Amino acid sequence: MNEELQSYYRARAKEYDKVYLIPEEQQDLADATTLFQRLFSGKNVLEVACGTGYWTEQISRVAASILATDINENVIEIARSRDLPETVSFEVVDMFQLETENRFDALFGGFIWSHILLQDLNGFLQKMSGFLQPGSVFAFIDSKPVVGGYHDKRSITQTDAHGNTYQTRTLEDGTQHVVLKNFPTREFLVTTLSGIASNIQYVDLKHYWIVCGKV
Ligand SMILES: C[S@@+](CC[C@H](N)C(=O)[O-])C[C@H]1O[C@@H](n2cnc3c(N)ncnc32)[C@H](O)[C@@H]1O
Repeated sequence: MNEELQSYYRARAKEYDKVYLIPEEQQDLADATTLFQRLFSGKNVLEVACGTGYWTEQISRVAASILATDINENVIEIARSRDLPETVSFEVVDMFQLETENRFDALFGGFIWSHILLQDLNGFLQKMSGFLQPGSVFAFIDSKPVVGGYHDKRSITQTDAHGNTYQTRTLEDGTQHVVLKNFPTREFLVTTLSGIASNIQYVDLKHYWIVCGKV
């Protein structure tokens, strides 16, 4: 577990949803919602790192059920306050420690891929695929480095020996946090997922990438 990442998102919880109000990103959010609502219709979804539940809410409109999980209790409290159907349940858990008897037919992770150390990705994906029935669908969405945008490549302040990149972010209370934020290429995503997945599709939105497929 990356404790700096956990404490950063705990501290950011109350201001997090402002990220979904950025005018230039509204079209991408609408397109992503359409895609996810098509993909997850009627599915029993395992959601990792659900945060304040923006995507939980969108997917809950069509899914049969969602188990939405996050390491931080205070973000889940915000997610619970949304208008959600009873088919959504929550669990506070580190996704690297997650254990469940349930078998899902869908997996979703919003803006978490970028926060997984490169050296942990294969283990993470193997672990997640163990919770899925054969033929399950999955999707990840995350940020592209857009010139002049929030995730401009120039926002990277550190790179470690494995090639993981980090941003130094300032919260509204003035505290600074060094946050792991990787920007995978399409090729990297497809190659990494090809070990566990088929029908891999990369969707290139203006501000985000989406990768989805079957396990
Ligand atoms: C960028 S936010 C994404 C939240 C939400 N998925 C969304 O798209 O709005 C990243 C989330 O990952 C959670 N997180 C970080 N490390 C985690 C871990 N090891 N296990 C589970 N959740 C984690 C944080 O608490 C935070 O809510």
